[in-house]
Order: sequence, then structure tokens, then C-alpha cells
Amino acid sequence: MGRIDDIVAVITGGASGIGEATARLFVKEGAKVVVSDIQDEQGLKLVEKLGENATYIHADVSLEDDMKGMVDHAVKTYGRLDCLINNAGMGGVKGEIESIAVEGFDQTIAILLRGVFLGMKHTAPVMKKQGGGNIINISSVAGLRGVSQNHPYSAAKAAVLQLTRTVAMELAYYKIRVNSICPGSIVTSIFGAARGLSSAESAKTYENLKRLFEKGQPIRRAGLPEDIANAALWLASDDSSFVTGHALVVDGGISAGQMWTQQMRWIDAIESTLGLDPSE
Ligand SMILES: NC(=O)c1ccc[n+]([C@@H]2O[C@H](COP(=O)([O-])OP(=O)(O)OC[C@H]3O[C@@H](n4cnc5c(N)ncnc54)[C@H](O)[C@@H]3O)[C@@H](O)[C@H]2O)c1
Repeated sequence: MGRIDDIVAVITGGASGIGEATARLFVKEGAKVVVSDIQDEQGLKLVEKLGENATYIHADVSLEDDMKGMVDHAVKTYGRLDCLINNAGMGGVKGEIESIAVEGFDQTIAILLRGVFLGMKHTAPVMKKQGGGNIINISSVAGLRGVSQNHPYSAAKAAVLQLTRTVAMELAYYKIRVNSICPGSIVTSIFGAARGLSSAESAKTYENLKRLFEKGQPIRRAGLPEDIANAALWLASDDSSFVTGHALVVDGGISAGQMWTQQMRWIDAIESTLGLDPSE
């Protein structure tokens, strides 16, 4: 018996990284999964591997017709929609505030924020009608803390957290839970994609990224897509039935505070400024 037997889940950006790991875990735990993405070849290959309990649909999260079509596809294929995971994303336009073009800003917000809004807008009526459901929005630790020169990404991820809370309050009456997950640094294609690499090219960099990310947070191992998939499984299951409007941080402790090593360097710097010997 799985932990989410027979639930129907839709995962946006499901062809790669966190979405792919979540699709694999959900099918293993008994769910029927609709993978949606704009990387059609990769999405189709994945559902072929996942077998009869997975289907693929092309949906650009920034387009309302695509998002409505995605929800209709889930209902037509499986008769219901129990869980929506708004996961699709990209790094977005980066740089100093005066260098960011309006088009780049709008595109980042359209994918990272409008996409989440559209997913919830078209899923809510289906879940209300069937008497309940579960929505999980993938935000980021960048939504909790500012990330330098990553203005639209951080702003969009912070807005996703607030939208999660407001929609959670509205939909709780209908037995629909709405939560978000804030991943820390997770080894996926997103870093390569931001630098113009394809998913296959990015995969070649995973081992290097893993080594780098091992040192990036208090828990000294790299964050993996499966870490986020496990959090999504808990939120999608009845084990979290009293949890809504929550931002679940899964980041190896990166947002808990300054790393001890950084803090020691800072304390040393203060002591030298005061003319004290930090080694005493
Ligand atoms: N990897 C990390 O360190 C990290 C940290 C915090 C948050 N996140 C968030 O996790 C989510 C998943 O990212 P990932 O790390 O798995 O990256 P990824 O690049 O492996 O996966 C993202 C997927 O989203 C899809 N996508 C991009 N634009 C889309 C669009 N317009 N419509 C539909 N699909 C689209 C891509 O094709 C890709 O398959 C994103 O929202 C990201 O911001 C990732």
C-alpha cells in the first residue's frame, strides 16, 4: 500500500529536477500523475518510464489557456484532481536593478508568479466540486531572504508565499489545503539552464554542483530533488491534514542563520577591529 494511493496529482515543470523526482515518488506511492512541462520530449520519455499511472501534457504555465487545458486533461483522463504541485520555474532575469529590462522582469514574474496563480485559479473549482484537495506551491529560500542581483526571482518567490497564505485561508472552508515549500540549494538543471545549457548538458555538471553544495549549508551534503519530493509527499498525504498556509523550509539549515564558520570569521574581524587578538 502506498502513502497516497489513487490520488490524482498534476505537477507543472514535471519533466526535470524537483518535478521529475516528485512524479517518480508519487507514482511509487500509489498516485496517478499528470506531468506537464514545455520540454515535451523529456516529459514524454519520463511518463513512458513511469508506466500506466502517468500521462504527459504540454502546458506553458504563463498561459491561461494552457493551464486550463492541463486541468481539463487531468479531469478527463482520471475523473478528478486531488493534488496540484505548482513547481515549474527558471532562474529569471538577473543583474543590477537599473539593468533589468521590463520584458525580462515581466517574463520572470509570468512564469514564477502568474503560473502559480493560474494553476490555483483553474484547480480550485474542480477541487471545490469534488469536496477537497491539496495544492503545493514551490517557492524558495529566496522568497524568505533577499538574494543579491536576483530581484524578480526573489520577489516572485516571496509573492508565492503570500498568495499561498491568502488562498489557503479562502479554500480551507472547502477542505482544500494550500501550502508551499521553500527549497534551499538543490542539484538540478536550473543552474545550467540559467546559463543557456540544455538539461542533458546540465546533467554533466551535477557531480561538480554536488561537491559545491556539500559545503553550502549547515547540513554538509548537497540538497537533492528527492528531499523536496519527500516534503511534497508529506504535504500531499493525510499525515499533514491539519497543515495549511504553511511555508515548509527544506534547505539543510541554510536559512536558519549564519554558518558557524562565517560567524567565526565575523567575530574574528570584530575582535581585530577592537584591537583584540582573536586567538586568545
Ligand atoms: N534547484 C534549486 O536549488 C531550487 C531552489 C529553490 C527553488 N527552486 C524551485 O524549484 C522549482 C523546480 O526547479 P528545478 O530546480 O527542479 O529546476 P529544473 O530546471 O530542473 O526544472 C524546472 C522545470 O520547469 C519547466 N519550465 C520552465 N518554464 C516553464 C514554463 N513556462 N511552463 C512550464 N514549465 C516550465 C522546465 O522545462 C523544467 O522542466 C522551480 O520553481 C524553482 O524556482 C529550485
